[in-house]
Parts: sequence; structure tokens; C-alpha cells
Amino acid sequence: MDESLPEAEKELLGQSESEGLHTRRQFLHKAISIAGWGALCVGTAGAMYETVRFFAPSVVFHPPSLFRIGNIQDFLSVTGNPDPFGVIYVETRWKNDHRFFVVREAKRIYALYARCTHLGCTVNWFPGLGIFKCPCHGSEFHSDGKEFAGPAPRPLDRLKITLDPEGYLIVDTRTVYTAREFEEKRSYIEIS
Ligand code: FES
Repeated sequence: MDESLPEAEKELLGQSESEGLHTRRQFLHKAISIAGWGALCVGTAGAMYETVRFFAPSVVFHPPSLFRIGNIQDFLSVTGNPDPFGVIYVETRWKNDHRFFVVREAKRIYALYARCTHLGCTVNWFPGLGIFKCPCHGSEFHSDGKEFAGPAPRPLDRLKITLDPEGYLIVDTRTVYTAREFEEKRSYIEIS
């Protein structure tokens, strides 16, 4: 403290220095206290999260894989001349949501998996051309799914299809048949 100051000023100065010190101490005390509570809250929330996570069942939800696509009579009522690959009609209504087409031949109905056999992009049906095309690398497939252009190494796969007792066709997207299994019973429905 400056010794040249009058006594009253010295006293005032001393008082304000001590008040300042006191205020700083209070501020520091509050800051430490807030930080402590903050850490405690974060720690408690973390512990609660871990506890809930530990006791919660680990359930993985899968989209449905069985589809009742319609009565077989609806598919039989579609008539026309078969194309050079034996296909009368390609139904596209399940392509966007469930990734398969239904193909009607004179003697068979089957579900064609819309996943390109090159790298798995979804193929599109072009009714005017009577072919499937892949938008990714240009593979092309005949109406029965047989590959004929581009890098796809094999025909489009087929999905399990069955007939329930009420005459409805059921497609099961969990079971996939590759070309060498196309004669297996559940890879198509025989039309008598
Ligand atoms: S993913 Fe279809 S051609 Fe490559």
C-alpha cells in the first residue's frame, strides 16, 4: 500500500482490497461447487444409462419376410402370348417395397429377386423392351431373369413361393434359390 496516502484513504483501500479478496474467494467456491455438481450429474446419468442398457432386452427388429401376394386365380386370369422366353406377364407391384417381381409363364409362376447378381443393385423392368436392366453397371436380363449383357455373372435369383390352403400365393424373401435350384419344388408354382 502507498505510504504517502492519507490514513482514511489507506483504510478505505485496505477495506476494498479485503472485500475484493472475499468476493474472489466466494466466486471460486461457487465455481468449484457448480463443477462438482455438474460432474456428479453427468456421472449419475451415465450410470443410469448403462443400467437401463444392461437390463433392456437386445431385440433386433426385422422387416416381415412373408407376403401373401394374392389369390392364384388373379394371376391365372392374366392371359397373352408368351415371349421368346416363355413369359406371359411380369408383375412389378412388390418391387419398390419388397424387392421382387412375380413372373407368370404358361406353366409356372415364380418370384424373381430384383437384386442384381453383379453387386446387388435393384434391377428395373422395362415392359416395352421385355427385359430387366440394372442401373449400376448396365447388366441386362431376359424376362425370365437370364443374364445376357453386362457384368452380372448369373441369372436373377428366385424366392420361395408356396400356395396356402385358401389358394393364396405366399412369397418368402428369406429363402433364395440360385439358377441351379430353379427346378426345386418351392422355387415356383406349377400351373396345371
Ligand atoms: S450391380 Fe448390377 S450391373 Fe453391377
